[in-house]
Amino acid sequence: MSNPLLRVDNLQAFYDQSHILQGVSLSVNSGEVLSVLGRNGAGKTTLLNSIMAILHKRTGSIIYGDQEINKLPPYKIAKQGIAYVPEIRGIFPSLTVRENLEIASRRGREGASQQQWTLDSVYSLFPHLRERAQSGGGKLSGGEQQMLSIARALMTNPDLLILDEPTEGLAPLVVKEIEELLTALKRQGLTMLMVEQNLGFATRLSDQIVVLGKGRIRWSGTPELFSSESGIQRTWLGV
Ligand SMILES: Nc1ncnc2c1ncn2[C@@H]1O[C@H](COP(=O)(O)OP(=O)(O)O)[C@@H](O)[C@H]1O
Ligand SMILES: [Mg+2]
Repeated sequence: MSNPLLRVDNLQAFYDQSHILQGVSLSVNSGEVLSVLGRNGAGKTTLLNSIMAILHKRTGSIIYGDQEINKLPPYKIAKQGIAYVPEIRGIFPSLTVRENLEIASRRGREGASQQQWTLDSVYSLFPHLRERAQSGGGKLSGGEQQMLSIARALMTNPDLLILDEPTEGLAPLVVKEIEELLTALKRQGLTMLMVEQNLGFATRLSDQIVVLGKGRIRWSGTPELFSSESGIQRTWLGV
């Protein structure tokens, strides 16, 4: 059996008086991709923000490797080897592509067990970013920004990459590029936890699918099983 790299147990999360996540448990195995699917407002971003301690009004257990991380601040969680590509891509518009990457690399950690990413190895994976190295972050297209956001995450040398809707708002050709890219990262052994609304994209990339609805896990299983669950898809995803 594969062993979990990340284990979330009975996670409850709150915004003021709203009880958003109501006992979410999941685990992401080393080297695998887990996708969380769900409608708008289901609590997907809240789940990722809770894991990263960006939202800290939460209870439950979050174990990474063999360490409980639910008391750590976001920067310490990042130092443990978790990189987050948020929905709002979070690149610096006034810095160049290269500067954005260099800053991210300083925020990373030493002694990572995965591949040690450098400017050069990131540029070979994203040749387009090399061409745009001197362009301002704010001048990039949506697709380029998403690429840069993923590239920045890699520069921290993560063992776990967390992505919030990496294909949102992107043209089909760019979505295809992102899929190829994440497939290549998966092949290199990178573990990923991803939130997606694009079912085809998520099922092709994932080893496990989790359906989140109104703050609870409504279904989980393999992509193969998920494809035959038309009832679940209709009820919780509206497809
Ligand atoms: N900052 C916030 N303050 C209060 N409620 C929020 C906030 N962010 C999200 N919510 C609410 O939490 C629920 C889950 O939101 P979210 O996690 O963003 O869903 P998803 O990412 O699945 O679309 C929604 O009902 C949303 O209105
Ligand atoms: Mg969201």
